Amino acid sequence: MQPTVQVLDKKFELYLSETEIQDQIKKIAIAINKDYVGRRPLFIAILNGSFMFASDLFKQLTIDAELCFIKLASYKGMTSSGQVLTAIGLDVDLFEKDIIIIEDIVDTGKTLNEFIPKLIHQQPASLKIAALLNKPDALEFPIPVDYLGFSIPNKFVVGYGLDYDGLGRNFKEIYQLV
Ligand code: XMP
Ligand code: MG
Repeated sequence: MQPTVQVLDKKFELYLSETEIQDQIKKIAIAINKDYVGRRPLFIAILNGSFMFASDLFKQLTIDAELCFIKLASYKGMTSSGQVLTAIGLDVDLFEKDIIIIEDIVDTGKTLNEFIPKLIHQQPASLKIAALLNKPDALEFPIPVDYLGFSIPNKFVVGYGLDYDGLGRNFKEIYQLV
């Protein structure tokens, strides 16, 4: 575990350790295991950023659960491009299913604000959001996160799936822009 990392032209400092992240994911899993006992939720993980969170969360589940991935993207470099693109779409029917979205981070909320109506349109039985991180000071759209890992300051972060221009996803920890 390094106190600081260099990714391309930017320096980042350690913000959340591997242990802190994993402990929080266990807590989220305990809550989901309790809330969904006897049901069979379908988790929809949003690529690319959420792949590590989805994997570690899914391993902690004791209930029956399904998992699929979709790919949305609105970020280029360190600022949102403002447009949410669907690169890989949904290949499952959501009708009367219990859906849990898995996101790495809710920043402005724009991505989920555009994506959620498309899911609701398919009439799922329920829809909840699990996000590892949110940035309350950056939120522009009303996105209620039902299962949250950490609320963080409005600073760019990398690691644990999150990238800066494609790099930094492999860190087990989360680092914050210095
Ligand atoms: P919005 O603003 O739509 O953003 O809620 C959600 C998506 O933007 C990416 N994002 C980040 N990626 N460090 C990153 O590496 C960040 O600090 C950050 N903030 C937002 C992320 O892909 C998320 O799904
Ligand atoms: Mg993402």
